Amino acid sequence: MKGVVLAGGRGQRLRALTHGANKHLLPVAGSPMIDHPIRTLIDAGITDILVVTGAEHERAMGEHLRSTPLADRCSLSLAPQPTPDGIAGALACAETFAAGEPVCVILGDNLLQRPPTTAINAFAADPIGAMIFLTIADDPERFAIATFEGDNPANPITDITEKPANPASNAAVIGLYLYDAEVFDTCRSLTPSPRAELEITDVNRAYLRRAALRGAFIDGWWIDAGTPESLARAQSFLAGPERPA
Ligand code: G1P
Repeated sequence: MKGVVLAGGRGQRLRALTHGANKHLLPVAGSPMIDHPIRTLIDAGITDILVVTGAEHERAMGEHLRSTPLADRCSLSLAPQPTPDGIAGALACAETFAAGEPVCVILGDNLLQRPPTTAINAFAADPIGAMIFLTIADDPERFAIATFEGDNPANPITDITEKPANPASNAAVIGLYLYDAEVFDTCRSLTPSPRAELEITDVNRAYLRRAALRGAFIDGWWIDAGTPESLARAQSFLAGPERPA
C-alpha cells in the first residue's frame, strides 16, 4: 500500500502564523508539522509516500522533503495541487503516484499517538472499498461526525456529516483513510460543497452508499493541529509522557 500526505489548503485558521508560509512546515515539538504524519505512515510500515501541497508551497516543501531525516527511512515524492479545491481535490492529484494500488491517506495536520497498524495491514490484505478511523471528540462540530445503527458505535455506520452545527454523535472521523484504487473515480465524480471544496466526507459517503465503507475506532490520542489551540495541545502531547514511541 502506498502512502499519501495531503498538505494543501489555505491554513486560514492559523492565519496569524501562516502569512507567506505553509502551515504544514510550522514547527511542532522540534520538527515541521508534516514530519509527524509522515512518521505515522512509516511506523505503519508504509514507505512509498507522496506529499501533495499547494502549488505556491511546492518549492519550500520540496526543500524540506530533501532535507528531513525521515528521507532515510522512506521514499518521499511531491506533487502540487494546482488550486485549493479541497481535500478530495488534493487526493485526486495522487492518482498517477498510486498507479492502481490502494492508498493510506493522512492529512498533513493530523497527529496520532500511534498508527492503527493492525487495521491498516488487514485492509492491505483485502483492499476493497474504504476504511475510515474514528475517535470520540469533545468538539465534534469541528469535524466529520459518524452516526451508527441504533446509535451504538459498535454497529455499522449509517451516515457521516461534515462539521454539523448540532452533532448527532461525538464520533469524529479523523484524517486517516484507506482507499482502494476506485477512489480516484469517486473524486472525479464530486461536486463542490457549500464551502466550495471537494470534500473527503463526500468520498466516504459515496463508499457508504455502495456499502463499501468500514470504520474502526483508534487507540491513543489524535489531534487536528489546524487551530492555534489544537497546535498548542499537540506541542504538549508530543513533549509529554504519551508521546509517540
Ligand atoms: C478535515 C475533514 C474532516 C475531518 C478533519 C479531521 O477537516 O474535512 O472531515 O474530520 O479534517 O482532521 P478540516 O480540518 O480540513 O476542515
